[in-house]
Amino acid sequence: MEISQSKRPGQLLNWDDIQKMKYSWCVANETMRLSPPAQGFFKEAISDLTFAGFSIPKGWKEYWTPYSTNKNPMYFPDPEKFDPSRFEGKGPAPYTFVPFGGGPRMCPGREYARVEVLVFIHNVVTKFKWEKLIPNEKIVYIMSPIPANGLPIRLQPHKK
Ligand code: HEM
Repeated sequence: MEISQSKRPGQLLNWDDIQKMKYSWCVANETMRLSPPAQGFFKEAISDLTFAGFSIPKGWKEYWTPYSTNKNPMYFPDPEKFDPSRFEGKGPAPYTFVPFGGGPRMCPGREYARVEVLVFIHNVVTKFKWEKLIPNEKIVYIMSPIPANGLPIRLQPHKK
């Protein structure tokens, strides 16, 4: 609302506005923690290695997934609770929250995705009241989580 109120009618968001949307990004992160858009990826060991007591020979494929940490109560207390404040301050410990992967092959689109998500949230929240028409709509996983019925919603403009 602070950003919205600082704008003249019709004035577009700029880069500085996006940087100020810290709480909205906490909300997006908490959403991705509970329901990661990417379910995981395969990696190939480029040399023999040992990890957590397991020997992984060169050429073997490993599958990593954000699910191995994102609902672990050791890293995220009361893991089923939607609580964006987990991402405030320093946020989760390194490599416990990896919706965009980590290391050299980390998603190169993550900053673009952040801008897109924040601009979308800002415009919807400041302009409309959003009501789901199917309150408990199922989520199906076709690689990414997708609302089973296409997420029908009713948007009502805020009263001026
Ligand atoms: C919320 C949105 C997104 C999520 C959660 C996401 C997640 C991921 C994940 C987990 C990986 C694999 C990282 C790894 O293997 O270590 C990845 C790779 C990749 N992503 Fe995204 N991504 C998102 C949006 C985007 C966008 C908007 C673009 C392009 C504009 C993009 C382009 C790519 C590319 C090209 C790779 C392959 C990188 C490589 O193998 O070097 N992603 N993404």
